[in-house]
Amino acid sequence: MPTASARPVLDQAPATESFREAVLTGLRKPQKHIPSKFLYDERGSRLFDQICQLDEYYPTRTEISIMKQNVEAMAQAIGSRVRLVEYGSGSSLKTRVLLNHLDDLAAYVPVDISKEHLIESANDLAEDYPSIPVQPVCADYTTAFDLPDPPMTAARTVGYYPGSTIGNFRRADARDFLRHVAEAVGAEGGLLIGVDLKKDIEVLKAAYDDAEGVTAAFNKNLLRRMNRELGATFDLDTFEHRVLWNEERGCIESHLQSRGDQAVTVAGEAFAFEAGETIHTEDSHKYTLDGFAALAAEAGFHVDTVWTDERSYFSVQYCTVEAGRKS
Ligand code: AVI
Repeated sequence: MPTASARPVLDQAPATESFREAVLTGLRKPQKHIPSKFLYDERGSRLFDQICQLDEYYPTRTEISIMKQNVEAMAQAIGSRVRLVEYGSGSSLKTRVLLNHLDDLAAYVPVDISKEHLIESANDLAEDYPSIPVQPVCADYTTAFDLPDPPMTAARTVGYYPGSTIGNFRRADARDFLRHVAEAVGAEGGLLIGVDLKKDIEVLKAAYDDAEGVTAAFNKNLLRRMNRELGATFDLDTFEHRVLWNEERGCIESHLQSRGDQAVTVAGEAFAFEAGETIHTEDSHKYTLDGFAALAAEAGFHVDTVWTDERSYFSVQYCTVEAGRKS
């Protein structure tokens, strides 16, 4: 029996920053730094899936329960006949909860930089939701990109950005990203976004430094990746996973800390590490509701509705573009 498949990928041939260049540039800085997007090679992505199941890592579980409990109100806020644009490939439970409740979707547009992952998840969704036109776009969603024409007239375009991935951007980059989204969805458009909230620092630290050591393995996988792909000479046992709460920037910082003085070669270049020195590998920003509303406003969005859990750990927020608001 033939199975439904997604429409052909609209491939915008996104430039992928080379791992080698990013690593060498980052390791030459006084505070050594590697962008967190490089944590997600195949093994890193699998470890991240395991993180999402951990007792200490509350965001995934909490967001799913907020979605399940409030999806009807969310669907009502979003309206019918919309074109839903998901930033990052959506094969997850969260996407499915939403698709199950949206009425008469004009199109579902998953956007991802990884073509392989995009095709796989778009086809899975097309098969499970044969009545929804799935129009995958291969693009770097952090910059402006073109959307395909929907196969039928859409009432409006609504972005979907779950997972609090917005937290992995520095504040100014988060604002710029939200500005792109506001432009893409247009004056009548909206955005449903998952935003992790500020809370007890010990809860946050445990979420990023779990007892089983899965997050440590996820972070250290970057050293493994450099050894494999760049011929680096990191000894994984001489680095430790470290997390700290940066109060000023409102984020959990993840680092790899050298246990002693040592020299490491990466892509033929020597790098010295002093005992205690770190490579900064990730920021996970946490927001207050007011703080996120202010960020959204700078990008041209107004927060219309906030759904949260009983502990106020996480939020899912529906924002509309300021210009389209009828006051
Ligand atoms: C993908 N992102 C939202 C995760 C976070 O919570 O910042 C990545 C992560 N890093 C360690 N644990 C989870």
